[in-house]
Amino acid sequence: MPVAMRGDAPAVAIGGDVLVVTAFTELLGPAAVEVDSAMAGELAAMISSGEIRGRFGEVTVLTAPAGIAVRRVVVLGLGDRAALDSFRLHNAYTLAGIALRRRRLTRVVLAADTTLAGDAVADVAALLRAMVTGILVANHQAGISKTDPDVEPLIDEVVVAGADGEEASIDAALADAVLLAESTLRVKRWVSAPANTLTPTLFAAEVSELCAGTSLRIEVMDREALQSAGAGALLGIARGSEEPPVMVIVRHHGGEVGGPMLALVGKGITFDTGGISIKPALGMERMKADMGGGAAVLAAMHAIAALEVPCNVVGIVPTTENMPGGRALKPGDVVTALDGTTIEVVNTDAEGRVVLADGLGMARRLNATHIVDVATLTGAAVIALGHVTAALMSTDRALAELVQLAAHQAGDRFAELPLHPEYDACLHSDVADVRNWGNREAGAICGAVFVRAFSGGTPWVHLDIAGTVWNEQGNLKDIPAGPSGAPVRTLVWLARLFARG
Ligand code: BES
Ligand code: MN
Ligand code: ZN
Repeated sequence: MPVAMRGDAPAVAIGGDVLVVTAFTELLGPAAVEVDSAMAGELAAMISSGEIRGRFGEVTVLTAPAGIAVRRVVVLGLGDRAALDSFRLHNAYTLAGIALRRRRLTRVVLAADTTLAGDAVADVAALLRAMVTGILVANHQAGISKTDPDVEPLIDEVVVAGADGEEASIDAALADAVLLAESTLRVKRWVSAPANTLTPTLFAAEVSELCAGTSLRIEVMDREALQSAGAGALLGIARGSEEPPVMVIVRHHGGEVGGPMLALVGKGITFDTGGISIKPALGMERMKADMGGGAAVLAAMHAIAALEVPCNVVGIVPTTENMPGGRALKPGDVVTALDGTTIEVVNTDAEGRVVLADGLGMARRLNATHIVDVATLTGAAVIALGHVTAALMSTDRALAELVQLAAHQAGDRFAELPLHPEYDACLHSDVADVRNWGNREAGAICGAVFVRAFSGGTPWVHLDIAGTVWNEQGNLKDIPAGPSGAPVRTLVWLARLFARG
């Protein structure tokens, strides 16, 4: 991973392949104005002629004139200034990074527009994090399985110029940005991995390797351990697959023994066929991403340990394939979850909430005081919110607000949906304590209502990330295509804010 450095020199004096300056809609940013004077009014002329519009994600590549130390200047459009937030800022720099890699411009100087601090983002540190993390997460390599990969070079040097402020806090922000980018890239890699290369067993092995040599304590519960623990919900969903299920538990002891403990519970379905309630073939390949929540949780745990965050956090990821094998659960079958609750599985494609039941059961057994679950849970969340924002539902105002604050720092987005008592009806079963599916109405909320039944009154937040883990190629142009890595950075920030009490 490249090192992000702070340039004390003015942007135009730092060497590299390319200097990135910004423009808003029909308006040059402050660094672009400086470059403009070095270019004898060239940029201003291009704005006037409409050659540069300053539209969001617009990348204009120019040859740098004498007097500017880089070979190329890129004007990156940020669009409407009033609409700019942390999420959009991250994405703009990722879009820039993708364009730069394509042009083999990998030694990058970023000019910071500090007027955005306290405006689009909280402060200068947040601005630098968004820029540097944003551009580095463009380093995702999608075509790794091609025999003749036309692999674009990675961005291997990032220098930030023009950021005034306390040197120590700026250095810390840059170090942070690199770590958060590494974590995001790890999630992108896991989420895009073909399901035959990332079975539950292989996933657990990768995580074990990642945790080795860190302060994290990892436990991988195999089928036998799950049976002794009574994890009948996870074992039930796993019945249709030849691949054995596991529950991955990773612990970070950064706080006082017996102090508050945050549980991050991630859905880890390495492939979701729907089971006997099988999905249509069209687009089913995307269901390799159905462990996105678990991936974000486990990558976040790694970062939380590296940052030595002073609080207790446990990551819990129930992991299995959801397959329609001969021994698979059938609609109407009843399983008993780890906490003793009986579940009528009327739809085997609503498997995520079922495995989360055991994830939350384990969180409570480990005495978690706060629970946040993260899951690609419902198509309904995608229908409601698209790839633009994930859904948040909660039983605890303070914890929900902490997650929102973390998301703002991280450049993720969550829109809250209500949990009015009328929705409880979707849990009703004639034969068991709860059933896993009622009807098509309020799908994202009913998913949350089901998971809530296993929170046991512990303060709880549910994040339905079905839409935000992946943006389709050629869909929303303002959001980079492919896996996003979300919401790993939010989880890391949440632990940090949680540690502050
Ligand atoms: N993994 C899916 C949800 C999903 C859909 C994630 C689209 C990403 C993109 C989940 O397990 C599922 O199949 N949900 C069903 C639930 C339904 C049967 C109640 C759905 O949303 O259709
Ligand atoms: Mn499903
Ligand atoms: Zn699923």
